Parts: sequence; C-alpha cells; structure tokens
Amino acid sequence: MAHRFKSDLTWSDVTPENVFLNRRAFMAGSAAMVAGGIAGPAFAASNYSTKEEPNTWDEITNYNNFYEFGTGKSDPAEYAGALTTSPWKVEIGGMVDKPGDYSFEDIMAAMTVEERIYRFRCVEAWSMVIPWNGFELADLLNMAGVQSGAKYVAFETLVRPEEMWGQKRNFVPWPYREGLRLDEAMHPLTIMATGIYGKDIPNQNGAPMRLVVPWKYGFKSIKSIVKITLTDKQPEASWNMIQPREYGFYSNVNPEVDHPRWSQASERRVGGGLLAKRIPTQMFNGYADEVAGLYEGMDLTKNF
Ligand code: MTE
Repeated sequence: MAHRFKSDLTWSDVTPENVFLNRRAFMAGSAAMVAGGIAGPAFAASNYSTKEEPNTWDEITNYNNFYEFGTGKSDPAEYAGALTTSPWKVEIGGMVDKPGDYSFEDIMAAMTVEERIYRFRCVEAWSMVIPWNGFELADLLNMAGVQSGAKYVAFETLVRPEEMWGQKRNFVPWPYREGLRLDEAMHPLTIMATGIYGKDIPNQNGAPMRLVVPWKYGFKSIKSIVKITLTDKQPEASWNMIQPREYGFYSNVNPEVDHPRWSQASERRVGGGLLAKRIPTQMFNGYADEVAGLYEGMDLTKNF
C-alpha cells in the first residue's frame, strides 16, 4: 500500500511564498516529494513539531503496546502482520450531518497530510519522540459535519479475532475503545496518524489510521480505528473501564499525579539504554502552552 498524500504538488509549487501562503499545502507537497523519492527538503518543520531527536524506525516499530496482538512489547511487531488493512472503512456516526462509512482512500483524498514530530509518553513511564505523518482530526470531523449538541468523540478499534489473536483472550474488553472531549478532539495538536518517517504506518503502530493525542498518556492514542461516534455523553474508554482508579478518562500527562503503583515524575526515553538517566516528565507532556487552557478551572488531581 503506497502512502497516500492528498497533494500532487510539484517542486515548482513549493516556493517560499507558498510556504507563507499555505503552510499545510507545503507540508503535503514536501511529503509527496519524499514519497516520490525526489531530493529536496525532507519535510518542512511544523510549528507543533519538537526539535528533539526522534527515535529510530526500529525503536518505534519494535517496542509497542497493541494488546490485540499480545501483551509483550515485541508481540505487535511479531504478530500484527496478520492484519488486513485494505480495504478499510471508518464508520462515522452519531451527532454528525453526514453519517456513513468512509473508505480510507476517500478520507485520504480529502485530508492534508503533514509531518508532526511529537513526544509520546506512555502511562508506563517510557517515552519516545516519533515523526508521525497525519492529518488533523478536526478536518475529518468537520468533513462529517459535527452537530451542535455533540460534546464528545468516541473511537473504536476493529474486532477481528481471526487476525488479531489477542482478541481470543480477555486482556481488554474488545473492542479497544477510547474517547475525547470535543474540544480536545478539535485541538490542532490532535492528529490521525497514517505514517511514520514518511512511510505507511506499520500495522504494529495502528495501521492504517490511529489517533495521536500527544499531551495524553499513550493509551488514549487508539490504533486501527474503524468507528468514530459524536455523542453528548462521556464515552467508555478501555483502561478506564478496566481500572478506573488507575486510569482516568482524561489521562493528561501530569508529573504531579502519580499512578497508584508508580511515580509519573520522570520517564525513560526508549533507546537511551538501561543505564541512561531518566528525564523529568513535563506537564501535559510539554504541550502546556497549547492545551492547559482546555482544563482551566478543573481539579486535575480529581479529573486525572
Ligand atoms: N490501541 C489499541 N487498539 N490497542 C492497544 O492495546 N495500546 C495503547 C495505544 N493504543 C493500544 C492502543 C497504548 S497502552 C500505548 S502506550 C500506545 O498505543 C502505544 O503506541 P505505539 O505502539 O505506537 O508506541
């Protein structure tokens, strides 16, 4: 499956003026150049991208959580190849103007893919820096037309035990599900990732389309999504269903609120080696300037 970028911009379209006039088209343009193997700037840096050194492809694709394929960190890389990701459709429903089944191809044709280099912090206190390719979730929700009463967005991963052996066990009540408040879902940092390092996102990372919410613990970033529902009720979320005392609905990265069984004050950057010094965890995973306002007035020790 070739990576699908919306834009067919050529080199001449990607002039410095266009960078200013249309930052997002530029992203898509440079992405298309990479996909086509044309030499040029790899990807323009997004304002939202960190300048930290990204983890390697091998680290990002061999150390995963994807319980549909087992609970070990190397299980997803070993077993996720069994998942058929084409054809793929996403059912968008609930409080939207245009409910229906959207094919992955139709979604990609309508979306603008750009690179976002984000910190990624798992609730287990390991972290990575990942150069995702993806589009803003807001663009997809706007395409479906969000109705005025909608307050939350619910997401589900596909159920296909023939291909996802972990679904024959009760590690998690399947389907894996997650949810966001509508304003979190519409925030420009929230993306649907479809690639890593300019390549199609590998199955173990959530092909063909997975959520990435960089200021929340990694388990909110649900993989291989087949259903998106706009609703006025707080949706069910898998880890919150399993152990609500340990995993809140919000699950914003917060060094001041410890997990009941371990500290969240610091983290281990994957790839640094076992002897590497832990690094301090940042409030909202370092995205406080962008997102703290979403939680103004909330007690984050209660709404954890
Ligand atoms: N999505 C599904 N469907 N199933 C899962 O088990 N694990 C979550 C999240 N999304 C998970 C999932 C957890 S706990 C984390 S930390 C991230 O995916 C891991 O993403 P990565 O493997 O791409 O680093």
